[in-house]
Amino acid sequence: MLLQENIPLAPLTTLRLGGPARFFVEAKSISDVQEAVAFAQARKLAVFILGGGSNLVVADNGWPGLVLKVAISGIEEHPENAQGETLFDVGAGEYWDRFVAHAVRAQCAGVECLSGIPGSVGGTPVQNVGAYGQEVSETIESVQVFDLKDGQVRDLCSEACGFTYRSSIFNTSERGRFVILRVSYRLTRGGEPRLDYADLKRHFEGRETRPNLAETRAAVRHIRARKGMLIVEGDPDCQSAGSFFKNPVLSEQQHEDLAGRAAAKGLTLPSYPALEKSRKVSAAWLVEKSGFARGYGFGNVGISSKHALAIVNRGGATAAEVLALKGEIQQRVEELWEVRLEPEPVMVGF
Ligand code: EPU
Repeated sequence: MLLQENIPLAPLTTLRLGGPARFFVEAKSISDVQEAVAFAQARKLAVFILGGGSNLVVADNGWPGLVLKVAISGIEEHPENAQGETLFDVGAGEYWDRFVAHAVRAQCAGVECLSGIPGSVGGTPVQNVGAYGQEVSETIESVQVFDLKDGQVRDLCSEACGFTYRSSIFNTSERGRFVILRVSYRLTRGGEPRLDYADLKRHFEGRETRPNLAETRAAVRHIRARKGMLIVEGDPDCQSAGSFFKNPVLSEQQHEDLAGRAAAKGLTLPSYPALEKSRKVSAAWLVEKSGFARGYGFGNVGISSKHALAIVNRGGATAAEVLALKGEIQQRVEELWEVRLEPEPVMVGF
């Protein structure tokens, strides 16, 4: 295990800002993880687990304890079961989109709509990554974790992970308890792509034949690129943490009230059915309709010119500037719409 000190974290995140890690370890194996955790516990250092850095805002002062970057690699394919399903055991440190590409090449359905999402495999169960009509909770079979509480390595089945929209036990009730080591996905060889999402349907409109997995992957990447949600070197709209706010999930009554407020202004509120008795409304729409147009901002931080939900570092931004813009948006949306937008990225060191 290589222990490093005062390592800048900004280059390890997609938002590219924030201070250094006091101590830093890149763990390539379970034993590296165990050794790093033992070091931190002996010195009573707080541990932050870093994956692909695509959903983080690091404080300007950085992290005073140990940052443990999980770099466990490998994609292991198990023989197909009787239901025609194939299990893939993937190291938490694998780049997520590399796994998606691998699955699509192997003609395995289940994650094709999650193409082009930045970050690591280990990050996907944490906020139950979802896009274009799929969520990882639909295919995750189990998650192998290192339990910081008792030092044990164990497998958590999907139910034990408590998945809901952008949430799991890993970012709620058990936040900070587990280091995710490996994730097992159950995919279907020869399965059809999921083509439920409006943007995807529109993309394939007028086509006679059903698109295959590879075409669906290409379409998703194309749509993401248009929204600045695909990391493209040199595109200033990509220096972001993806969606900065969650889409509010409202009860039917709250939704009706909000839709009424929109109608009074001559507007139609975009919303989608969520869980039972609730609706998900578009945070991007609320942001835009509160006076924050795409491209809004001055100086170092702003809103992506391609998508109202992404706050971007235009170069040289600080975490404080990002949080100031976040606060300004939350306040204005609340004043106008009586809805509190909750941030989606993880805040580190605040
Ligand atoms: N819209 C706007 N303005 C915009 C963009 C979108 O008003 O600038 C409205 C439109 O009405 C559109 C609706 O918002 O129909 C939904 O937009 P989009 O399809 O882009 O989805 P989103 O709600 O903005 C969510 C996820 C994304 C995911 C996309 C695609 C959350 C917080 N975000 O965004 O995930 O890629 O759907 O499925 O659920 C992320 O979580 O970091 C993320 C990028």
